[in-house]
Amino acid sequence: MDVDALRDLARRLACEAGTLVREHRPERVVVAATKSSDVDPVTAMDRASEELLRARIAAERPDDAILGEEGDDVPGTSGLTWVLDPIDGTVNYLYGVASYAVSVAVVVGPPDPARWTALAGCVHSVVDDRTWTAARGRGAERDGRAVRVGAPADLATSLVGTGFGYAPERRAAQARVLTRVLPRVRDIRRLGAAAIDLCLVADGTLDLYYERGLNPWDLAAGGLVAAEAGAFVGGLRGAPAGAGMTVAGARPVVDDLVTLLEEADADAAEERFAH
Ligand code: IPD
Repeated sequence: MDVDALRDLARRLACEAGTLVREHRPERVVVAATKSSDVDPVTAMDRASEELLRARIAAERPDDAILGEEGDDVPGTSGLTWVLDPIDGTVNYLYGVASYAVSVAVVVGPPDPARWTALAGCVHSVVDDRTWTAARGRGAERDGRAVRVGAPADLATSLVGTGFGYAPERRAAQARVLTRVLPRVRDIRRLGAAAIDLCLVADGTLDLYYERGLNPWDLAAGGLVAAEAGAFVGGLRGAPAGAGMTVAGARPVVDDLVTLLEEADADAAEERFAH
């Protein structure tokens, strides 16, 4: 498997879609539809960006499968699946907050983060044109220069990124966990695009990151970038990273965050949220 070629293709696709997103942003972005809840938006540009990515993959890699945030799964015969987030950080895109990205990864195995092996990926931050790439076993880069995870001294002085889901029950539980984490760390950042958060761990801008409820397309490229930069990327109680929990950062300090999240039952069943 030529992982360098796959990484170069992921970069080309993410940057081309990023150019579309950047150059055709309307004066006022509107919500085209909602997904998992009333506050989980889709815009016309989410769809246009994903259509572009799907068309390019169909032309260049017709035997590969596709798993995208905004469309039906496309089966393949090669064993490879492209995992696409056409705009990660859609709420930021909607409001014009400058943190959203196109995320493109290619994985081998079933389209489930617990069971796949990510081969290559690219996260292209649209507004500031930063591009993180990684290929399995080849390290991670930002704009062509190797990046390495930071070396935080301890949990208490670590800057920690996190994010919240769209369902009220999930958010209530995440708020409860945050009351346990926030007093124990330097500070929290909720930047609004999980793929970028993982890349910021990769290049040492954030010390640590955790989030419950990531979708495969939020995690695929950014998780590989972070891992190839030397980060631990996993879940709680020995589980792999995925919807249950994703924690990323340099060892040994990331282990303290994992322990704290386990003690806070950050993966516990969520209670129904009473409005
Ligand atoms: C969301 C963002 C956000 C994270 C959510 C994701 P979307 O992705 O990555 O930072 O907290 O869990 O769903 O909806 O903008 O593609």
